[in-house]
Amino acid sequence: MAVHKLWLFLLASARGDPDPLPVFSCDRHTPCSVDLAGLNVSDGDSVVFDDAQEGVCPRCLSTDLGICPFLRMTSGVPGGVFCEDGTVSFRWSCAEEGKGERLLCPPNHTMCAGRLCGGGADHCCMAQDPEGHADCSGHGGWRRCPFQRVENMQIGRNRSTGPQTVGKHLFCKCTEEDFMRNATATPLGELELIGPDHFQLTTCTLGTPYCEFFLRNSYGVRPQTTMLQATPLPCDLVHATPPDFQKHFRTGWQPDLGGVYFTNYTDMATRDPGIYSLCWCEKSTEGACESLEDYNLSAGGLVLAGPVRERKTIHAVFGEEFTVSVHMVLVTGGESQLRLQSSCTEGAEVYAKAISLERDRWGQVSDEKNFSFGELEEHERMPAGAYKLCWCRVSYSYSPQVLCEDRDFITAVGDVVIKCAE
Ligand SMILES: *[C@@H]1O[C@H](CO)[C@@H](O)[C@H](O)[C@H]1NC(C)=O
Ligand SMILES: *[C@@H]1O[C@H](CO)[C@@H](O)[C@H](O)[C@H]1NC(C)=O
Ligand SMILES: *[C@@H]1O[C@H](CO)[C@@H](O)[C@H](O)[C@H]1NC(C)=O
Ligand SMILES: *[C@@H]1O[C@H](CO)[C@@H](O)[C@H](O)[C@H]1NC(C)=O
Ligand SMILES: *[C@@H]1O[C@H](CO)[C@@H](O)[C@H](O)[C@H]1NC(C)=O
Ligand SMILES: *[C@@H]1O[C@H](CO)[C@@H](O)[C@H](O)[C@H]1NC(C)=O
Ligand SMILES: *[C@@H]1O[C@H](CO)[C@@H](O)[C@H](O)[C@H]1NC(C)=O
Repeated sequence: MAVHKLWLFLLASARGDPDPLPVFSCDRHTPCSVDLAGLNVSDGDSVVFDDAQEGVCPRCLSTDLGICPFLRMTSGVPGGVFCEDGTVSFRWSCAEEGKGERLLCPPNHTMCAGRLCGGGADHCCMAQDPEGHADCSGHGGWRRCPFQRVENMQIGRNRSTGPQTVGKHLFCKCTEEDFMRNATATPLGELELIGPDHFQLTTCTLGTPYCEFFLRNSYGVRPQTTMLQATPLPCDLVHATPPDFQKHFRTGWQPDLGGVYFTNYTDMATRDPGIYSLCWCEKSTEGACESLEDYNLSAGGLVLAGPVRERKTIHAVFGEEFTVSVHMVLVTGGESQLRLQSSCTEGAEVYAKAISLERDRWGQVSDEKNFSFGELEEHERMPAGAYKLCWCRVSYSYSPQVLCEDRDFITAVGDVVIKCAE
């Protein structure tokens, strides 16, 4: 069982409670359960979590529909949502109509955690696909149940119940009577949920020398034992990560840099820009993170900002103006440069240079940039033939800084064939 019981006496005395609250630890990897024996609970009570981590027990909401009915029940009325006052709303705006909050979705819908619907006051209901899955990703995720019936003196935490945010949560008791009276729940203990923050985004620009990962908002994990696997799949499918991602798109603590970095920048420069999953594993023992299956926990997303590769060959003619339009993914302002080179590697021959025409402000996101090389001149050093388009963006936020020197043009954007004029 993944629960360690620690009895801590500090917090309770600070709060002035007569008795200390027990603290339980549990890691986000594995379902776990908390043994309530010895706490003042009985069968029929419910446990509610302070999921918002405000440090106080929430109210026990009175509802005669049982606990978290939205998990398994619908309004039963196609096109209608069930409101807290027991009526059905076809306008889907329980709160606005003064009917309390939205309690149940119409059939074949799933309730989401975000209160972004019904005029911004109700939980959203998203339609399910034929397999019964609904996409709540833009609405705070699927609404989970913070209330758990106490059976056999244990409460479980898994993907559908209990807190999902790492950190310290208070868990509290509601008796049936507390529910009826909408009383404030009584504190029982604390549950520490250990793991990385799965909402975090790490942003890196293609062609920069290091890509650093910070353990922001994580709880109880150390950078020294952090291992990361970047993958185009969600972390619960990490086992199916394509082979070209497996070896080079994996990293961990770099003792010489004192942090968790992706250091293979030549490999990064070959990736398509976009958002990847960062899947986490704790290297607590030697060999612990060898297998892909070990990286089954999300540590957020890796945003690779950069130019979209042009798959078709670009044609140019000597004696004519040559302008290249490049699509960008999440590239923020600053100076972008493009060059015609023999290859996009350090030490390559450089034939022509262009700076983006648009001088955008720092922080502004551009989705397209035009680069003008002017009139292409044929000369001995630049004969007709095939060239590479190589990209770089000036960045002062990395160390070493990226000043778009010769060695920095490692991101290939496309192939150009230059012909002589007819
Ligand atoms: C145990 O909980 C009940 C309510 O369910 C309460 O009335 C009683 O005072 C509690 N006992 C202790 C020792 O806290
Ligand atoms: C809607 O849900 C019911 C069960 O509640 C199921 O039998 C039916 O196939 C679903 N319809 C669609 C279109 O998914
Ligand atoms: C999660 O735990 C609850 C209560 O402990 C249980 O009812 C539920 O079936 C579990 N769900 C999953 C997906 O394991
Ligand atoms: C429960 O009590 C709180 C605080 O007084 C109140 O804001 C809330 O509307 C009540 N909920 C119900 C369902 O009565
Ligand atoms: C970096 O990645 C490239 C290509 O994916 C690979 O060939 C090379 O061996 C890697 N370098 C290191 C030091 O791992
Ligand atoms: C995830 O990986 C860890 C470490 O290998 C393992 O202990 C845990 O059981 C795995 N969890 C799931 C849901 O596969
Ligand atoms: C780039 O050039 C194209 C074609 O001339 C033009 O339509 C587009 O607006 C330009 N993009 C920007 C960001 O100025």
